Order: sequence, then C-alpha cells, then structure tokens
Amino acid sequence: MKGIAIYPGSFDPVTNGHIDIAERGLKLFDKVIVAILHNPGKEALFSVKERMELLALSLKDYPNIEIDTFDGLLVDYAAKRNANAILRGMRAVSDFEYEFQLALMNRRLNRDIQTVFLMTGLRWIFTSSSIIKEAARFGGNINGMVPPEVNRRLKEKFGFAADDIDLEPPFQD
Ligand code: PNS
Repeated sequence: MKGIAIYPGSFDPVTNGHIDIAERGLKLFDKVIVAILHNPGKEALFSVKERMELLALSLKDYPNIEIDTFDGLLVDYAAKRNANAILRGMRAVSDFEYEFQLALMNRRLNRDIQTVFLMTGLRWIFTSSSIIKEAARFGGNINGMVPPEVNRRLKEKFGFAADDIDLEPPFQD
C-alpha cells in the first residue's frame, strides 16, 4: 500500500499508543500526516499549538511524518491533502462501534478515501489520552505511557514536581 494517510485525532495529549500507530503507518504508506482536529466546541487540556509542539517533538525522528491541523470534515481535508486513506488505531472492543460509525460515514461522504485500522500495540490496549490525563491530574505515575516531554508538561499543568520522570524509551510488544 502506498500513498498518503491522514492520521486524525484530538491528541490531547499524544500518547505512546498514538506514536506506535503513526510509526507503523509508515510501514504501509509513503507519508503519514498526523492531523489534529481544531474543535473550538470541545474543551481541551492542551491548546492546538501545544499539541502540535508535543507531536512534532515526539515524532521528530520521522521525516515522512508531518503534523498539521484541520477543521471541518475529515474527508474534505484528506482530499485537499491528496490522501488516499484515513489511518485509525483500534483498541479494545469498546472502540469498535464508534470507529465503525466514523468509517462508514466517511465512506458515504467520499468513497475514494479508505479507512485503514491498525490494532493498537498490546501494551496500549487500555490506555487513552483521557485516562492518562485522569491519572496525571491526581499525581498518578504515567511513566512509559507518554513521551517524556508530554509527561513533564502534564505534571506542570497539574502542579506536580517533574523529578521522577522515567526517560527510558518505551518498552515495545
Ligand atoms: O481522537 P478522536 O477525538 O477520537 O478523533 C476523532 C476525529 C477527529 C477523527 C473525528 O472527530 C473527526 O474526524 N472529526 C472531524 C469532523 C468529521 O469529519 N466527522 C466525521 C464525519 S461526520
């Protein structure tokens, strides 16, 4: 499979699960565009600018990964970027119904763009930005679940000291 894939999401903030999907997307596509939805109606912990910075930093070693933002319909953005696919990660069964709806609606809106799912790495199956934020908010240890800079910024947002951040690269399944 070649061409360009859009990997869309909120990325509030980026997790190691997202990074795993973006990296593996590069094995299928020539280029992956990680696209942050700019959604003024949804309250986020990190601004779009902060989310872009954290993604850019976390994916800096991959020249074929671009970070961008979009608003409006995803398929319109994908067509504008000449992408032939939308890349999504699938975790546990709980993701399935929403992802199925999203993929079918996107196909109805534009049949030229295919949605491709990658099963998330086993290690990330029960993690999400929301659950990681929840743990971080109350001082829980999130080492190894997010890139070190994201870990640091979460601690900073929630007023915790950043001295126990584990800088080891994440374990891979
Ligand atoms: O990481 P998320 O928040 O689950 O990502 C959801 C996202 C950004 C992929 C989805 O909300 C989206 O594509 N929104 C843009 C509007 C759109 O095209 N919706 C789908 C068809 S109605």
